[in-house]
Amino acid sequence: MAQVKTIEWKDDKLILIDCTKLPLKEEYLICKKYSDLAKAIKSLAVRGAPAIGVSAAYGVVLAAIEGEKENNNKEQYMEFIYKAIEQLASTRPTAVNLFWALDRMKMILDINKELSKNKIKEKLLNEANLIYEEDIQCNKNIGKYGNEVIPHRANVLTHCNAGALATAGYGTALGVIRYAHHLGKNIHVYADETRPLLQGARLTTWELQKEDIPVTLITDNMAGYAMKLNKINLVITGADRITANGDTANKIGTYSVALLAKEHNIPFYIAAPISTIDMNLKSGDEIVIEERDNQEVREVFGQAIAPNNIDTFNPAFDVTPNEYITGIITEVGILRPPYNISIKNAMKL
Ligand code: MRU
Repeated sequence: MAQVKTIEWKDDKLILIDCTKLPLKEEYLICKKYSDLAKAIKSLAVRGAPAIGVSAAYGVVLAAIEGEKENNNKEQYMEFIYKAIEQLASTRPTAVNLFWALDRMKMILDINKELSKNKIKEKLLNEANLIYEEDIQCNKNIGKYGNEVIPHRANVLTHCNAGALATAGYGTALGVIRYAHHLGKNIHVYADETRPLLQGARLTTWELQKEDIPVTLITDNMAGYAMKLNKINLVITGADRITANGDTANKIGTYSVALLAKEHNIPFYIAAPISTIDMNLKSGDEIVIEERDNQEVREVFGQAIAPNNIDTFNPAFDVTPNEYITGIITEVGILRPPYNISIKNAMKL
């Protein structure tokens, strides 16, 4: 069955599959203004590091179209777009792909500032399309390199959703699984449900089932026992930010899975594009971890599961130290420890 279209630019609008509604409803959000997109990123209607970056790039194009309608003089027009970039950057702090994509868009704006408004919009749209296409190509290459570490009849555990729904298409961690599956490797996926927002249960199982890739859903607290019973051969997850030493921020719970994998001698891989690497940060201690509303912990699908006034702690991500990571699968190859050297070399390619 065909893969889902997560992000689509059509008739000067950005169309997104609404990840908050899946798997119960397949609904699409139409963003006409950049503020519609900012709202969609904050609410996780569009989520996953690469998808956030790609959609934000189109958000800048939306701002250019809006700015053209609202402002007559060029200075105001440029200011409008720069302000939109700032607002888009303030939506979520952890996934570096957001800032990476916005920096690329800002650079296009800077170098073309002497052109007409229409030409500027054209240049911005070209860049956003390029970011979109590059993301799909990166994911396919990640799939190709990652396939090297996937044995025949592998049982692969994944956490959260790092699939087509988290990227422009194909996926990172699920891209590796997809690639191996299409080669006939007889892959079976174990998907952690991924509390609090259940991206594993709602999104990973949905997109794998759509393509007939065998998948078993487990709750987060079952991963250790599944490993103990030899049900898991390897773990692959995505990433939101990788620092220069290989420490990796990903969905809350990834760190626990990495510790469990180490204890059971199971390889633990991260799959991510090079754009997820932040060379400005030396280690994971410097990564800003997003904290979200307490309601996400206190409720499931709007239904309270704890007393109304209960205290909660709700970090959206955690950091897995590099020593727990067997390899980082990228579009230029698999990076191995010591990561400070392999990452530096990969950045030069
Ligand atoms: O809060 P989310 O759903 O945006 O978190 C997503 C993840 O943690 C993914 O694993 C990560 O962004 C990689 S997506 C290819």
